Amino acid sequence: MAASYDLIIKGATVVNHDGAGVRDLAIRDGRIAAVGDTSGVAGETVDGRGLHVLPGVIDSHVHFREPGLTHKEDLETGSRAAVQGGVTAIFEMPNTDPTTTDAGALADKVKRAHHRMHCDFAFYVGTTRENTRDLAELERLPGACGVKVFMGSSTGSLLVEDDEGVRDILKVIRRRAAFHSEDEYRLRERMHLRVDGDPRSHPVWRDATAALMCTERLIRLARETGKRVHVLHVTTKEEMLFLAQHKDVASAEATPTHLTLAAPDCYERLGTLAQLNPPVRDASHRDGLWHGLAQGVVDCLGSDHSPHTLEEKSHPYPKTHSGMTGVQTLVPIMLDHVNAGRLSLARFVDLTSAGPARLFGMARKGRIAVGYDADLTIVDLKRRETITNSWICSRAGWTPYDGVEVTGWPVGTFIRGRKVMWNGELLTPGQGEAVRFLETLAGER
Ligand code: DOR
Ligand code: ZN
Repeated sequence: MAASYDLIIKGATVVNHDGAGVRDLAIRDGRIAAVGDTSGVAGETVDGRGLHVLPGVIDSHVHFREPGLTHKEDLETGSRAAVQGGVTAIFEMPNTDPTTTDAGALADKVKRAHHRMHCDFAFYVGTTRENTRDLAELERLPGACGVKVFMGSSTGSLLVEDDEGVRDILKVIRRRAAFHSEDEYRLRERMHLRVDGDPRSHPVWRDATAALMCTERLIRLARETGKRVHVLHVTTKEEMLFLAQHKDVASAEATPTHLTLAAPDCYERLGTLAQLNPPVRDASHRDGLWHGLAQGVVDCLGSDHSPHTLEEKSHPYPKTHSGMTGVQTLVPIMLDHVNAGRLSLARFVDLTSAGPARLFGMARKGRIAVGYDADLTIVDLKRRETITNSWICSRAGWTPYDGVEVTGWPVGTFIRGRKVMWNGELLTPGQGEAVRFLETLAGER
């Protein structure tokens, strides 16, 4: 009897661990059922000729603001932006209101997200001095991807700035923990360097030394405690060189923002829209990040999607909020870099699927292989499009790339075999589910 499938994608170039080649893909019950030989009958056939099928893009760093700050974003709007941009799963940050720092707050987020978000999801647990002793339990709860530590203060109140506090956290946890690495003491000392009305002073205040100093302290503590740490949004050439010496304990994230924008141009063009933490720095740092990416030091990409309204961004610096949208533009901006020859498509795939799956031990995600979730990002590598604010689904309604023309565009998003987005159209109501992790499978109910 001929095999029967729910869906066959025919004639596309599949990019996975096996290289890139024209191969058919068959999907059954939400999983990849066959790669290559897909003879059989299918409920639906998608013509993929001329398109590339990538493992679903995972954005392991977004802020979706629910609960509490939903005038900027919520789990529905943020995840709508994600799937419109070709993203199939996200890890969301704990600086909401209330913060995600106890079991109740985490369960509440999972409940709000389940079958309402459009993509799959996991949530970071925030760390405070008060919850440190509970972290071993909290990091293992369903829907948690691990803990996030702010060593330098940014949006919200979460902060553990001292060695003692960070050591205590590392001692109790088992999973890889993620860090915002800017030295809080140095940030406090240098506050006076902010120039009223001039966001060009943002990277002067929050300088490269503040980032490097903090990352050096962090790695020392990781080594001392024998734990794995993930350095979020690396912004300096010095940290890239340093982290290359510590790949046994440290993983590194780069953001499309810091790989694309450079000071002073971005502040002159975009003003406070370009303000985020850690800041966009000069082109020598941007070059250093690309070098680290090319050398394999960077493990994954996170957009650090941090929406604020245009009103919140319009106050005079430094009264402005730090952060910009990014989840919807991650794929097009990075495909444009692929087309410009700055990285290969295979490296992009490594950074956005295999990378996060390996770092965080995501169950059944990150590969186009039989038995894995059929999470797919389908792209037209040659399509030229202009990114505009009107395309942005984030409630914030703006992007720093308004008016920027790119080559390479996400045209389809499949999540666990469901066609969620095709040619810019959202096709199903939200059916997002919590990502499962190898380290906590035993704790599943
Ligand atoms: O620029 C930033 N915005 N950096 C952060 O660390 C937090 C984020 C936010 O939540 O707005
Ligand atoms: Zn962030």
